[in-house]
Amino acid sequence: MSIFIPEKHWWRDPLDKDEKVWLAIALTTSIVLTLAMPYWHVTQKQNPGSEYYKIKPDTFDAATDRFIQQYGVKDEAGAIKQEGGIDVVAPPPGDVFVRGQQFKWSPVLKLKKGSEYRIHLSSIDVLHGFSVQPINMNFEAVPGYDYVLKVTPTTSGVFNIVCNEFCGIGHHTMVGRIYVD
Ligand code: CUA
Repeated sequence: MSIFIPEKHWWRDPLDKDEKVWLAIALTTSIVLTLAMPYWHVTQKQNPGSEYYKIKPDTFDAATDRFIQQYGVKDEAGAIKQEGGIDVVAPPPGDVFVRGQQFKWSPVLKLKKGSEYRIHLSSIDVLHGFSVQPINMNFEAVPGYDYVLKVTPTTSGVFNIVCNEFCGIGHHTMVGRIYVD
């Protein structure tokens, strides 16, 4: 068996034809992919909206409570139904509130497929990550900002909301839920 040892000055030799072809392919690929990023950003529909408002955490907290009182799903005794200690809400199309806090998302939402919602997303304490599974859509819940997500569910099912921004000792238990039917 022999070992190939390159000449000491191999980099001074003119490029081989194969090397030229590969360099051209690599360069073309990188240029195309680089241009694809802004092209996709501008022309395609995967971008989240840019609508947001400044809001005091207390104000958002109160708005979410009002929303829960107004559209909470009631049991026979007239109390709002809960799931895992979190209120369940079935709102009509339109404005919906989701509150992130250490360490829960509330309320649990029951939405209708094909209806349009404006989900107001915020946190009342620290930064949380709003990650919709299994479709893997990710947003941030930022205290002090009401971020509006325009959503029209296209598939029915159960979607879990996991927190994907480390927010403290109970971070891993911070799971919410959205039902679509
Ligand atoms: Cu909330 Cu991690």
